[in-house]
Amino acid sequence: MSHVFHRHLHQQYPTAVGGDGPYLIDAEGKRYLDACGGAAVSCLGHSNVEVIEAIREQVGRLAYAHTSFFTNEPMEALADFLVERAPQGLSSVYFVSGGSEAVEAALKLARQYFIERGEPQRKHLIARRQSYHGNTLGALATGGNAWRRQQFEPLLVQVSHVSPCYAYRDQAPGETPETYGERLAAELEAEIQTLGPETVMAFVAEPVVGATLGAVPPVPGYFKRVREICDRHGILLILDEVMCGMGRTGSLFAAEQEGVTPDLMTIAKGLGAGYQPIGATLVSERIRAAIAEGSGFFQHGHTYIGHATACAAALAVQRTVEERGLLERVVRLGEGLQQRLEARFGEHPYVGDIRGRGLFRGLELVADRGAKTPFDPSRKLHAAVKRTAMDKGLMCYPMGGTLDGRQGDHILLAPPFILEESHLDEIVDKLDATLKTVFDHA
Ligand SMILES: Cc1ncc(COP(=O)(O)O)c(C=O)c1O
Repeated sequence: MSHVFHRHLHQQYPTAVGGDGPYLIDAEGKRYLDACGGAAVSCLGHSNVEVIEAIREQVGRLAYAHTSFFTNEPMEALADFLVERAPQGLSSVYFVSGGSEAVEAALKLARQYFIERGEPQRKHLIARRQSYHGNTLGALATGGNAWRRQQFEPLLVQVSHVSPCYAYRDQAPGETPETYGERLAAELEAEIQTLGPETVMAFVAEPVVGATLGAVPPVPGYFKRVREICDRHGILLILDEVMCGMGRTGSLFAAEQEGVTPDLMTIAKGLGAGYQPIGATLVSERIRAAIAEGSGFFQHGHTYIGHATACAAALAVQRTVEERGLLERVVRLGEGLQQRLEARFGEHPYVGDIRGRGLFRGLELVADRGAKTPFDPSRKLHAAVKRTAMDKGLMCYPMGGTLDGRQGDHILLAPPFILEESHLDEIVDKLDATLKTVFDHA
């Protein structure tokens, strides 16, 4: 028996022993095309020599130095790199080890900002249903996925949840995308009024919703209206780009495509591309300044913040993405993937929607396309898709509870940016074969 406390204790996992570009290889020598980057992580695939070399070089020189004693060169250089490219106004970076930690840091920075400003009554958070912000308690409380929250509910801080921006299901007949976005903005405004605008600290959202909805982009203008509302009431906007950021949607930051700058932005996953565990919170100048001119000390911290090796890896990842022009490739391959998915599954009786941006795509599975009826959740269709795809040598990221945390199934695709066109065909062929097997036995 394995002594590892695995994610699922009833499941057997193949042992990953190697990587070759976009493929992972198990101990039996079986190759799996990684069409989801694990969970939108491995944007450079699994054998990038520049990154591996950068890690070797950094470990040889300085693996780690605790940030309460020292700064380090890769951390400084990575912060410079990110700030130079970030939406205007984000001027410093707090480094952590993953997405949940990035969200926790953002929440605490928001709170401390208002303490420093003498507005201690600002304590309410508003987020959206069907969002995912991580599994630590603050991040879990912020997320709006009923299934993930349910058993931990007594441990979670109070957070208000408004509707997600989910046009496929929630845009009413007769509504344009813009009027739908207006309706959602009005809902946010109403929630702020209910809580009392002077008590609200921040609104948190993923620009393109990943794990819990399956690559759902916002309608045009939605985030601009959200930004206006937050500004009008002095509320901070926290954008969680842990999954959709770092080039995944075709721009380094997903918010660029919305034309908004958040006050705090979280990134992780593609930042280190899986070569090292790393996340970060980008911080606006006004928040940094409030703390710098106040206590001067952000009351937070972990042992591994600003880890030199992790920062060196992430810097090498980001330089590689830039030097190899991979963002243009994400846009081109993303369109190619969407076209192939539409060609193959556009008329599929059980595929209701194909959506996303860049190399971040989602397919929503439905029992009836016209009525958009979800499958019975007890069938755990998403689990069957994942298992069957692995049998066929394809990694994809299916999830259940798309509609409300209980009903609905989707498949998320987030492949590496280094794919060739032929890999797009392989993804679609293997996914097609997977769905055939699953629905033949369903
Ligand atoms: C949007 C978003 N935020 C936060 C997280 C949590 O990141 P981590 O699993 O690295 O803690 C995730 C993970 O999927 C995510 O998708």
